[in-house]
Amino acid sequence: MRPNTHVTKRTLLSSSGTAPAQAGPPGRTGPAQWDAMRLNQAVELQGRLVALVPYTARHVLRYHQWMKSEELQKLTASEPLTLEQEYQMQRNWQDDADKCTFIVLDKLKWVGGLCTEEDCMVGDVNLFLTDPEDPTTAEIEIMIAEPSYRGKGFGKETTMVMMYYGVTKLGIKKFQAKINLENTISIAMFQSFHFEEVSVSDVFQEVTLGLTVDSYRKKWLLEQTSHIEEKQYS
Ligand SMILES: CC(C)(COP(=O)(O)OP(=O)(O)OC[C@H]1O[C@@H](n2cnc3c(N)ncnc32)[C@H](O)[C@@H]1OP(=O)(O)O)[C@@H](O)C(=O)NCCC(=O)NCCS
Repeated sequence: MRPNTHVTKRTLLSSSGTAPAQAGPPGRTGPAQWDAMRLNQAVELQGRLVALVPYTARHVLRYHQWMKSEELQKLTASEPLTLEQEYQMQRNWQDDADKCTFIVLDKLKWVGGLCTEEDCMVGDVNLFLTDPEDPTTAEIEIMIAEPSYRGKGFGKETTMVMMYYGVTKLGIKKFQAKINLENTISIAMFQSFHFEEVSVSDVFQEVTLGLTVDSYRKKWLLEQTSHIEEKQYS
C-alpha cells in the first residue's frame, strides 16, 4: 500500500497528506495561485476535439463506472472507491485550494447537442500543487478513459489545454507527471511535450517527468493552443 505522502488523484487526502486543504496551506495568507485553483468552477475550455468542463456531481456516476476498470486503475495508479467515496473525492477536487480538475468532453458531440453532457464524457485531467511552499509547481494527470477515444489526439490536446490553463491562469511554471514505467504511451506523449526524466522510483515502478516553462516553452505552448476558446460554463 502506498504511504499517504505519495498522493495520487484518488487519494482522499489533500496533497499535504493531512486534512483536505480548503484555503491554502497553513500559515500562509495565500498567494493568488491558491485561490486561482478554484477559478475553473465556471470555466469551459474548447479546443478542436475536446471541451474541458469543471468536474461536478453530475459526472460522478460515469466516472465511477470508468474506475471499475482494472486497466485504468493500473494505468492511473488508482484504487477502486465506493460511490460514496467517489462523491467525496469529487467534492475535494472541486473545493480544495490545491487542486484543479476538468472533465474532458467530446467537443463535436457536445457543441452539436448530439448527446447529454454525461454521454459526451471521455476522460479527465487535473493539476494539483505538490509543494506547500511553491504554488508554481503542479503535477498533471490525464486520463482518456474511453478506450475508443484513445490514439486519436484527445490526450494530446487535453494535456496542452490544461498546461495552457495552468500557465496562463494559475501561474504554474513547472509541471511534473508521474507515470507507470509500463505506460509507454503516456511517457511518449509527455516526452513529445519536452518533459524530461526527473527520477525513477523502483518502489512505485514509475517515472517522474518534469517540464520547466521558460519563455521558449511558454511561446511554444501558446502557439499550440492559440485556437482555444474560454467560455462561461453553466
Ligand atoms: C496516455 C493517454 C492520455 C494518451 O492519450 P491518447 O488520446 O490516447 O493519445 P493521443 O492520440 O493524443 O497521442 C498523444 C501521444 O501519445 C503517444 N501515443 C499515442 N498512441 C500511441 C501508441 N499506440 N503507441 C505509442 N505512442 C502512442 C504519441 O506520442 C502521441 O503523440 P504523436 O501523435 O504526436 O505521436 C491515453 O491513452 C490514456 O489516458 N490512457 C489511459 C490512462 C492513462 O494511461 N493515463 C495516463 C496516466 S499517467
